[in-house]
Amino acid sequence: MKIWTITNQKGGAGKTVLATNLAVEGSKAGLKTLLIDLDPQLSATKWWEARDIETPLLIRCLYNQLIENLDSAKQQGFDLVIIDTAGREGLKHTEAIEKATFAIIPCQPSLDDCRSALPTVDVIKNAKTPFAFVITRCPVSGDDLQEAKNSLSAIGLVCNTPTIERKCYKRAYADNLGVSEYDSDDKGAGEIKAIFDWINAKESRLENSQLNKEVG
Ligand SMILES: Nc1ncnc2c1ncn2[C@@H]1O[C@H](COP(=O)(O)OP(=O)(O)OP(=O)(O)O)[C@@H](O)[C@H]1O
Ligand SMILES: [Mg+2]
Repeated sequence: MKIWTITNQKGGAGKTVLATNLAVEGSKAGLKTLLIDLDPQLSATKWWEARDIETPLLIRCLYNQLIENLDSAKQQGFDLVIIDTAGREGLKHTEAIEKATFAIIPCQPSLDDCRSALPTVDVIKNAKTPFAFVITRCPVSGDDLQEAKNSLSAIGLVCNTPTIERKCYKRAYADNLGVSEYDSDDKGAGEIKAIFDWINAKESRLENSQLNKEVG
């Protein structure tokens, strides 16, 4: 079972928008997908409760229930668990980072945002969890994307597709949908699919190289 923890202690980095959209994408890809809402703000829960569509499933979860819920998800045959975490609570969700098969750090393309992600990176590196940045809310033009890629790639992997600042993300979220459910032709839908596929491929490659190391 894959566990993707979406984490950045910087508030408003785009965690919940990315978590909900990746979970919708996981379901679309035919994976039995569970979204775990570990944020006491319950943003993902409110989004999910107002949905008419059954997938992905969601559970809200207290910090001390995480391990039990992950065990139960495994027993129930989930392929993919995506954990949305709280920004402003510091790093109370360290366990979600330790248990993740891959950690994803959404980060807006500014110097301040890149710097603010560093304490989160430290925790992930301590936990030895593979991770990557996904640049979020990127202006459609200008140098911000390249500058952020340059500074973040010195720290870790950076997903080659960012999310661009688009109305469809806000509108889809307000309608309790993923962007692909809101408008499958919108460029945002293509971005989410590309990000999902990139993380999947990266994780599989890491698993294979780990396997090769163990065999070799
Ligand atoms: N690509 C995007 N284009 C436009 N708006 C976006 C995009 N990604 C996120 N947003 C908007 O940015 C705001 C913050 O996003 P989000 O709630 O996902 O951040 P967060 O990291 O979960 O915040 P918190 O730390 O409070 O949990 C929201 O208003 C959301 O709709
Ligand atoms: Mg959030």
